[in-house]
Parts: sequence; structure tokens; C-alpha cells
Amino acid sequence: MKRVLSGIQPTGRLHLGNLIGAVNNWVKLQHEHECFFFIADYHALTTAYSDTSHLRDDIHQLAIDLLSAGIDPEKCTLFKQSDIPEHAELHLLFSMLTPIPWLERVPTYKSKIDELKEKDLGTFGFLGYPVLQAADILIYKADLVPVGEDQLPHLELTREIGRRFNYLYKEIFPMPKDALTAFPVLPGIDGRKMSKTYKNAIAISDSPETVEKKVKEMVTDPARIKRDDLGHPDVCPVFRYYQIFAKEQCDKVSSDCREAKRGCVECKKELAKILIQYLAPIYEKRKIYEKDKALVEKILLRGAENAKKVAKKTLDEAKKAIGLL
Ligand code: TRP
Ligand code: SF4
Repeated sequence: MKRVLSGIQPTGRLHLGNLIGAVNNWVKLQHEHECFFFIADYHALTTAYSDTSHLRDDIHQLAIDLLSAGIDPEKCTLFKQSDIPEHAELHLLFSMLTPIPWLERVPTYKSKIDELKEKDLGTFGFLGYPVLQAADILIYKADLVPVGEDQLPHLELTREIGRRFNYLYKEIFPMPKDALTAFPVLPGIDGRKMSKTYKNAIAISDSPETVEKKVKEMVTDPARIKRDDLGHPDVCPVFRYYQIFAKEQCDKVSSDCREAKRGCVECKKELAKILIQYLAPIYEKRKIYEKDKALVEKILLRGAENAKKVAKKTLDEAKKAIGLL
């Protein structure tokens, strides 16, 4: 059995893109491996430090989202990063041996600064984002890290930091491998990649009415203006959803669209129904956790207890190797 670790930032509600691209994969992995999944609240602070008024609620809601989506605290360890300050201490130790140019050339560093122009990301903490991620991963000696493609440079840096530590002090850290989620990117309602930043997401906590409304607003084949224009499903975001959520209907939808036997309005109405049906079991579980705040808190604390044992052990090893203990 391998050890799997992954984290997700509490920066808004979990959306269908997160579900398809990451969390569904976590749900599957929890049955196959020893899994640690966490809410990366320290990481959220690297970009949200100036306004933390929503942080506590975002963390709680993300926990509810993950539990509703099928993360099972009996099958894996679910916890909150800041409950394990050992992550922060290992981050500090790693920061001593990480050359600044390694951090400056991480592609997400410059692209995030450009993307979030309204925020001042010229901070020490933001530059050190991947060092903290390396600590997250190496403190559990994880074998596999399920992430999206955008995270691969962070994983590479994690290995470089681990290698450098092993070389300087002692062979403590095994090299983690990525477990790339093979899933294609899900478009948002505007046709761009579904993302919190673009405000184009369908949250898994959106009510059926909201799902219906958002799907209605979705862009379709831009060349199809009138009902009798022949459609091109291959460029239509709505069709991407059929490919993911209703594979068995794809052939028919595709040919009907190409021959203009199917209108976009009905196509979307049907898609909304499919999505609402897909979300039904998630809505059901959500009701339980929404009613019981204490239960959610208890699950996170129990997870933290579990994670702490492993994290503390590794941190002590690292401190001994350095000469601090
Ligand atoms: N950087 C990741 C993201 O934005 C979140 C994350 C933090 C993470 N620490 C991690 C992912 C450790 C995997 C392993 O998606
Ligand atoms: Fe897209 Fe459906 Fe309209 Fe075809 S009919 S363009 S698949 S929304």
C-alpha cells in the first residue's frame, strides 16, 4: 500500500472542476491506499493574508464539501494544515537550504502575480509557497501526490528540496511521485477553464435552481446563432459536459446537434437535469454535515491527531539529522 497525500486551498466553494479534476480521484484513492488529505489554510494565507474575514467559514465549508463529495474519514485522514504546526516548522528548516532562484523560476510564481494584480504578492510567504508545499509532502514521506498538471513544477521542487536535505544531512526523505489526474479540464459557464478566479464555476453546493440558471447561461458553439444552424459539438462547452457526465448520450447529442435536430436551449435544459441528478447524493450528504457543525469539527480534529503522529516523527528525525535535537 502506498502513502498518498494531497491538499486543497480553502478559497471558495468546491466546484465541478475540482470534483472531476481532483476530488473524485481522491475518493477513489482512499479505497486503495493510505491517504492523507488536507485543507491548505496556511497556503490560502499566502494570497489572502490581507482579508481573512471569510477564512474560518471557507475552511468549514470546504470540509463540508469534501465530506459530501465522498471523502470518508473512516477510510482516510482528513485534516486542516494549520492544526499541524509541524508543517510550518519543516517549512522553516527547508527555507534555510532553498536557494531563492529555485523559487523565482517556478512558473506559477510569476503567473500568479500577474493574474492577481490587485493583490500585493511581493511577500516572503508567497515566494515560499512551494517550500511549504514541499514540507506538506515530505513530512508524510508521501509516495504519491495526486495533482493537476499546473502543480508539477511544485512537485519537482519538492524533490529538489528533499534531495538537498538528504545530501546535506541524512537520507530521510523518499522522492514523491506525481499521480497526474488524467481528467480533461472542465470548462466554466463562459467556456474558459472552470476556476474560482474567473467566477465561472458551478459549485457542488449550488442549489438545483442555481445549477439550472448557470447552465442556461453557458456559452455554446459560437457559430450556431439560429436554431437551424448546423452545430459543432466538438467546440461546444455544453457538449464537453455530456462527454463527462452522460457518455451514453454523446453519440445521439452529437449527431442531432450536427444536423440541427436539437436546439441549444433543450440541450442545456437536459444537461441541467443530468448535473442535478449527479449532485443528488452529494446534496443528501451535505444536509447531514450542514446540520452538525460539531461533527465536522470533530472529524477534522480526529484527522489532525492521526496526521500529527506521522508529522511529528518525521520532523524529529529531520531535527536530529540537523543537530537541533
Ligand atoms: N498547491 C496546491 C494547489 O493549489 C495545494 C497544495 C498545498 C498541495 N500543499 C499541497 C497539493 C501538497 C498537493 C500536495 O492546488
Ligand atoms: Fe452545444 Fe448542445 Fe447547442 Fe450542440 S445543441 S451547440 S451540443 S448546446
